[in-house]
Amino acid sequence: MMVKVALISGSLRKESFSTKIAKSVEGLFPEGYETQFVEIGNLPLYNEDIDTESNVPAEYTSFRNAIKESDAVLFVTPEYNRSISGALKNALDVGSRPYGQSVWDGKPAAIISQSIGNLSGFGANHHLRQSLVFLNMPTVQQPEVYLANSSKLFDGNGKMNEDTAQFLQTYVDVFIDLIKKHRA
Ligand SMILES: Cc1cc2nc3c(=O)[nH]c(=O)nc-3n(C[C@H](O)[C@H](O)[C@H](O)COP(=O)(O)O)c2cc1C
Repeated sequence: MMVKVALISGSLRKESFSTKIAKSVEGLFPEGYETQFVEIGNLPLYNEDIDTESNVPAEYTSFRNAIKESDAVLFVTPEYNRSISGALKNALDVGSRPYGQSVWDGKPAAIISQSIGNLSGFGANHHLRQSLVFLNMPTVQQPEVYLANSSKLFDGNGKMNEDTAQFLQTYVDVFIDLIKKHRA
């Protein structure tokens, strides 16, 4: 049975470095693992008033199903004003409800943060961790992945530089260990 890993990028823009990093990471998973990129840009802002059986937006339902069907989740987050993007927070909120039916509960997670400057999304990385603690997602602790100067990670053909790819391979390997422990 394939182990399914959902990949979520916290950025909606077409040329997003978070998304490019997520796409590069896809190739680092070993045999037996299947990655699925899950979109968050189509999710209406979370509102309990519309999240009722007769009203629930179809986008909420398909997003929740995609996460439910996944065994683990890898987040690649940009930093917006020292935190995660509103889009990513909204996706966390949508998946966490209705109360008692969170689709995140117990799923192993991994976090990559990035920024185009030197700070590498530290604030976003840790704000995301804060939510994942409450959502009860066992998350890779070490190594931590903060990618700085993300616009310089790729060559003209969109290929990630070798050093970064190797580091991310180490990270994915640790994530796989966490997933295996969790499934044992
Ligand atoms: C609203 C907004 C806020 C931002 N705030 C930060 C920030 O706090 N720290 C940082 O390092 N970069 C910040 N940036 C710059 C992002 O690192 C940069 O736009 C990056 O490319 C976003 O990720 P993406 O390429 O995946 O869209 C901000 C960008 C936007 C649009």
